[in-house]
Amino acid sequence: MTLDNARILVVGAGLMGAGIAQVAAQAGHDVLLFDTRTGAAEAAKAKLAQTLHGLATKGKLTAEAAQATLARITPVDALAPVDLVIEAIVENLDIKRALFADLEAVLPAEAVIATNTSSISVTALARDMKKPERLVGMHFFNPVPLMKLVEVVSGLGTAPEVAQAIHDLAGRWGKTAVHTRSTPGFIVNRIARPYYAEALMLLQEHAATPEVIDACLRAAGFRMGPCELMDLIGHDTNFAVTNSVFAANFFDRRFTPSLVQQELVDAGYLGRKSGRGFYSYPEGAPALRT
Ligand code: NAI
Repeated sequence: MTLDNARILVVGAGLMGAGIAQVAAQAGHDVLLFDTRTGAAEAAKAKLAQTLHGLATKGKLTAEAAQATLARITPVDALAPVDLVIEAIVENLDIKRALFADLEAVLPAEAVIATNTSSISVTALARDMKKPERLVGMHFFNPVPLMKLVEVVSGLGTAPEVAQAIHDLAGRWGKTAVHTRSTPGFIVNRIARPYYAEALMLLQEHAATPEVIDACLRAAGFRMGPCELMDLIGHDTNFAVTNSVFAANFFDRRFTPSLVQQELVDAGYLGRKSGRGFYSYPEGAPALRT
């Protein structure tokens, strides 16, 4: 099976969906972009136009390539039959399952559905599908155009040729793909949980400020400190992932979610995407250090 020439539908035009659409279109695919939030797909395309223009200005992409990439991305207002769907909607089992049921009603029999879930079991996501063998995890990292890693996650029912086709596709897009089974948090999010959790504990104990914690970890060699990284990921998403890993590990105390982060989520201080998290982003999300 090959997805080299796949027509792609990206569902969810938020942080991750927009980045995935960009990378797929840069690799030459026609990409449809769908979001249930009115105007979100169009807004994501407008933001991508700025990003691509910026890349062209910096000489990282020719002006023609930037224009061609943008022309391949089409916002749509309904699910459409394609060869490959990449799902990047809210981190919620029931909402993702409902989407997959809707997708199976419009997709051709051989189409693949890849989920960008950070932590939800691919096995559980596939439970009610007519063809569970076509669901596979394709877990990108934020920001998608910059981060090389893609975890290709196989649930109990995932067909090996589907996982391999996604692995090959990620490689063709210049990513480093790894195969993993669907365990809670997969590889990176499992290992990263304590990085966030210990920083949140320090904050709860008033041991240090986010600035100090981040400065320490950067000085220790990490590219980003835990607080600025949570702001980048989005506290709603990060908190949902922690809750999901906590539950999936039978409420093992090591993965206990943080009240500090719960407060941020309750206040709508979601990080860069809402203009405020541990830090303030009055001008909107700042450009990422590359
Ligand atoms: P986001 O909140 O930026 O975007 C989610 C988008 O999905 C929103 O625009 C929302 O309107 C849309 N949406 C919600 N329900 C929908 C539905 N039923 N149909 C169509 N669109 C719908 O979230 P983000 O950060 O892009 O995360 C998306 C997925 O990617 C989640 O599963 C998350 O766990 C995963 N992920 C997130 C990473 C991060 O650093 N933020 C990293 C890797 C994976």
